[in-house]
Formats: sequence, C-alpha cells, structure tokens
Amino acid sequence: MKTLLTGGAGYIGSHTAVAMLEAGHEVAVVDNYYNSSPEAIRRVEQITGKAVTLYEADVADKDAMRKILKAEMPDCIIHFAGLKAVGESVAKPTEYYRNNIDTTLTLLECMKELGLSNIVFSSSATVYGEDNIPPFYETMPKGVCTNPYGWTKWMQEQILRDAWYADKEMSVVLLRYFNPVGAHESGLIGEDPQGIPNNLMPYISQVAVGRRDHLTVFGDDYDTPDGTCRRDYIHVMDLAEGHVKAAEYSVEHRGTEVFNLGTGNPYSVLDMVKAFGDACGHPIKYEIGPRRAGDVQDSWANADKAREVLGWEAKRGIDEICRDAWKWQSTNPQGYGE
Ligand code: NAD
Ligand code: UD1
Repeated sequence: MKTLLTGGAGYIGSHTAVAMLEAGHEVAVVDNYYNSSPEAIRRVEQITGKAVTLYEADVADKDAMRKILKAEMPDCIIHFAGLKAVGESVAKPTEYYRNNIDTTLTLLECMKELGLSNIVFSSSATVYGEDNIPPFYETMPKGVCTNPYGWTKWMQEQILRDAWYADKEMSVVLLRYFNPVGAHESGLIGEDPQGIPNNLMPYISQVAVGRRDHLTVFGDDYDTPDGTCRRDYIHVMDLAEGHVKAAEYSVEHRGTEVFNLGTGNPYSVLDMVKAFGDACGHPIKYEIGPRRAGDVQDSWANADKAREVLGWEAKRGIDEICRDAWKWQSTNPQGYGE
C-alpha cells in the first residue's frame, strides 16, 4: 500500500513511518517542519533501511498539495499535520483554527479532485470533554472541549464525517489517541518538544537528564487513590502499529469509523514518576503544586473496539514506556537539535 503521512516528520508521524515501512508499505511524508526536523525522517530510514519520499510543503497550500498527491496517488492518507499545544491554542486561537481546519479542508478538496478516498485522522481523547465518565467508549456523545485545540479536533472530526456523508465511496477513520508517550526502542527517534515541555513525560525525562531541576505535580487532592490525576499512557510504537491497522482497514472498508487508541489502563502522575525513576536508576525530584486549569481528573479508554475490529491492542506497558523514553532522552539530551 502507498501511504502519504502529513506531518510525518513529527513525533507520532515519524514512529508511524517506521511501523508502516516495517509492515511492508510505502511511505511519503509532507511536512513544513513547523514543529519538527527532517533529521527525524533520516533516522526513520536508518532504523528501517528503507527510503521515504519527503516533501517540504504546507498542507494548507492547495497547489502544492495537488502536485504532491498527483505524484503519489496514495492508497491512504494519514493526516497528522496540525498544531497541538493546548496552552498556546488558548493564546492563539485563530492560528489553531486556521492551521488545523485549513489543512483538513485542503486535503479533502484535493482528494475529491483526484478521486482519492481513504483518510485516517489524528483525533484526541480530548473530544470526550469534561462530562463523560471514563472509561470512554466511541459511542459516547462528544463533549464540551476546554480549549481551542480540542475544538479543532472536534470540528475536524465533524468535517470528515460530513465529507463521507456526501460521498459514501470515502473511507474515514477517526483515531482518538489517549496519552502518547515513549520512543522507538532504538532510541534514535522520540519526542522533541520546543522550549519548556507542557506534557508530563517529556518534563519528567528532562528532569531525569538534568535539564530541569524538578517536576511540579499539578495537584494531589483529586479523588483518586494517591490524589493525582490518572491517564491512559500509550507507547508511541503501539500507537504507530494501530495506524498500520487503521490504514489497512481504510482501504478495505467504506464509511466513517471511530477508534480509541489507548491501553484501557489508567496510571497516576505519581505512578509515572516512580516508573521513570526505576527506568533511569535514580528518583525523579518533584514537588506538589496547585491543580492546572482545564485538567480532568481521569481519562482512559475502553479499547475493545480497536481490538475487535482492527485486531490491534497495545502490547507495551509503563516499564517499556519509561525505558524507551529514557533511552531516547539520555542518548539525545537536546533532542534532534544537537
Ligand atoms: P508534532 O507537532 O510532533 O507533529 C505534527 C507535525 O505536523 C509536525 O511535524 C509539524 O511540523 C507538522 N505541521 C503542522 N502544521 C503543518 C502544516 N500546515 N503543513 C505541514 N506540516 C505541518 O505532533 P504529534 O504529537 O506528532 O501529533 C500528531 C497529530 O496527533 C496532531 O494532529 C496532534 O494534534 C494529534 N494528537 C497528538 C497527541 C499527543 O499527545 N502528541 C494527542 C492527541 C492527538
Ligand atoms: C494534554 C491535553 C490534551 C492533549 C494532550 C496531548 C490538557 C488539559 N489536555 O493532555 O488535550 O491531547 O495533552 O498529549 O492540557 N502533569 C503534571 N505536571 C506537569 C505536566 C503534567 O503534574 O508538569 C500532569 C497533568 O496534570 C495530568 C498528567 O500529568 O494529570 C498528564 O498531563 P499531560 O501530559 O499534559 O497530558 P493531558 O493533560 O492528559
């Protein structure tokens, strides 16, 4: 199968490129390197020993995308390209709506012109909102999002669903990721956040390697066993393998399908701190701080549908997550920027 990964040089895209190539599929990547580096794709080629066709372009640029799609005519497009920082989306909502919605509309317009039908989209558990109680099922109504980033995912899901409704020859697969973490087991690719990390695992990793003094745990007065929030942390290579199954499914079926990609197992902030300390061989220094605005207490998946329909389930646990995140961080302390 020929695949085109928009945003494929990014964190999840680069790991998915490895999984796709290892499953015997062809991979082309379009990225504007807004939040990534072509070095990630060079390392994908190093890991797999296979070549990736790389295009530097903005996915919202219709002329550029028409040419790329015409040259590739992929069996499936996996649409990762987007802006993803929750806090930044609150400060810069128009940039988030413009980039995330425009890239999706441009892709759909080009796909229609060229008769391309199959798309897999990176959505998020954030669309379940604040009021659904975990475990989250795909059949639950989407909720009220707490930030513009979340609303862009909510809206992109709706746009893609409507596109299929108008053209039943399409195949739309909406993947709701829980908390992607970890790195490829080689330590050659991983998450490389710019500036101070917002998310837990990159922050812990930078404390472990000595780039930050300590972690602030956002609240220990939640109604959970240790008082800290619980999440469904999924190894990025499990997530990547979920994309292989989803892309293969998309070429075989018509319709719109939603899948949770999670493990179904919640872990608290302090569970992750402990597991990372075990993986890196020294305890992670932390302090308890106030709650972070917008955080939900609990979020985890019911992952039955992906197992039953796609034949996929997460295989790696938090020990592998921390081991691989540590390997990436300790061998690339400055990320790709060295
Ligand atoms: P990332 O920032 O590492 O990757 C996104 C990639 O898209 C980057 O390489 C960036 O340069 C590129 N990009 C952005 N706008 C572009 C444009 N207009 N044209 C071309 N390239 C563009 O993020 P990621 O963590 O790999 O996330 C991938 C997707 O998954 C995103 O859509 C994100 O919202 C979604 N997602 C991520 C998480 C997570 O925790 N990482 C959770 C849920 C959903
Ligand atoms: C966040 C986003 C979510 C997005 C996801 C992408 C919010 C409210 N949600 O999820 O929409 O899809 O990132 O990965 O921002 N924590 C600390 N200290 C830190 C950082 C985090 O204690 O320095 C805690 C948080 O309070 C939370 C847990 O760690 O309980 C996980 O946080 P994070 O990694 O930011 O992910 P989410 O908040 O689940």
